[in-house]
Amino acid sequence: MINSVSVDLEFARDFIENHLDKRQVNKIQHAFPSPRYWTETEVPVQEVLKDRQKLHSMKLGTPVNLYVGVPYCIQTDPGKCGYCLFPVEAFTGNVDLEIYFDYLKREAAMYKEALQGVPLGAVFFGGGTSNLYKEPKYHELMDLVRDLFPDIPAYVDITLEGIPQLFTREKIKAIKESGMNRISMGVQQINEKLNSLSGRKQKIQHTRQTLEWAHEFGLPANIDLIFGWPQQTVATMVEDLETAISWGVYDITHYELNVGGPTDFALNRYHELPSTLSNLEMYRISRDLLKSNGYEQITAYNWRKPGDPHSRPYEEGVTRRLDTMDTLGLGYAAITFFYDVALDEGRSWSYISWRNLAEYKAKVDAGKYPVERGFRHSREDFMISLIWRNLFGLELDRAKFREAFEVDVYDVFEGVWKALEEYGFVEITTEKIKLVGDGPFYTPLIQTLLAERRYNQLREQMVAEVQGQD
Ligand SMILES: C[S@@+](CC[C@H](N)C(=O)[O-])C[C@H]1O[C@@H](n2cnc3c(N)ncnc32)[C@H](O)[C@@H]1O
Ligand code: SF4
Repeated sequence: MINSVSVDLEFARDFIENHLDKRQVNKIQHAFPSPRYWTETEVPVQEVLKDRQKLHSMKLGTPVNLYVGVPYCIQTDPGKCGYCLFPVEAFTGNVDLEIYFDYLKREAAMYKEALQGVPLGAVFFGGGTSNLYKEPKYHELMDLVRDLFPDIPAYVDITLEGIPQLFTREKIKAIKESGMNRISMGVQQINEKLNSLSGRKQKIQHTRQTLEWAHEFGLPANIDLIFGWPQQTVATMVEDLETAISWGVYDITHYELNVGGPTDFALNRYHELPSTLSNLEMYRISRDLLKSNGYEQITAYNWRKPGDPHSRPYEEGVTRRLDTMDTLGLGYAAITFFYDVALDEGRSWSYISWRNLAEYKAKVDAGKYPVERGFRHSREDFMISLIWRNLFGLELDRAKFREAFEVDVYDVFEGVWKALEEYGFVEITTEKIKLVGDGPFYTPLIQTLLAERRYNQLREQMVAEVQGQD
């Protein structure tokens, strides 16, 4: 294993040097490899689920996280908010959601038996735009979750994501009463002029008002902000952050803009984007500002100010487990990960549900799992995924890693760690490898570097497969 994934020091130094000022095309990833490599169209879901049941009977208590997607978004001009790379479908009216929800329920039912007795880790209703649903649907969404997981302990984080202009007081009330216990708002820019570049009709008042309603109902609220936006300056970024801080927002997600695909920002506003080194400067300034206002960095892009009386403690298990990584994705374009060190080689999987709504529906109509494609992991792939995820959570516990993989993660990637240490991106002790300095900003670079050798192998395999078919 060590020889096939390790990268030497010279290579690592050159790689870092060559990528420091390049736009980080790969955003931070939560699992290896990227979905580009998921070529298996016949994912044996039944077999995957049988493995889960076996595992569950062997080691009770391993939780499964649940992701529930929705395909729809309000249409914008430019399309897809000008920057979004997620698969979405244009919303044409509430009937879309009614029909879709019925499919969601039918898909969930297919997993019910396999999940008997499995504890729930966390729930995320994302998308797409999950706050397009009308009030009664939040209760129905939670009924769907409770049908799969009848016992939901109070510490389970249940988040619904949405956009500011679609929240109403009634929706916030329904969200709270349904049992969801957190909202996350995609704000991107508080500055109205900058936000209007995305075609969204979002006013500052929408965000402020939603935060007030959330506060009224005791619902913790996160806001997503993006830096590296077209025409953005350090001054406008700082102004937005200071506004969020002044509103008493406890949870801020501060993403670097990911530019790519046929989006308006990539095609028509590329020249207006701050350079990568300007983005680095923005990262440093935002980090220092948030820290000096009492925020703690909990992942490469999540910041939390302690003291929200309603929030749940940050769940270390979400990013820092080194033995397992289970998320069941339900709905259009949802991603599922089923990994566990106790599984035999080749029995861990990632898969994505259909990103074409008609296909998604056709599969459910046919009584089949609506899986578009997937990837069967080797033990190395699973290991890289866990390293990536732990680094996203800012630190890697060497002892826990040794327990899971019977090898020291330092030895596996010695050249990479040494080079990263030279650049001041990591701090290495006998217990931990921690991202420090500009390290969290360069997480995508670090992830790609760690996976470089394995990516080469996968690319070669793909070429060989294509040649074999000719
Ligand atoms: C995919 S959206 C879904 C939720 C909702 N529709 C919204 O727009 O907020 C979730 C978050 O992903 C982030 N996001 C989407 N596209 C991005 C990009 N190209 N670069 C950085 N962040 C992005 C945004 O911050 C957004 O709030
Ligand atoms: S950013 Fe959100 S609202 Fe905009 S297209 Fe993407 S998912 Fe939809």
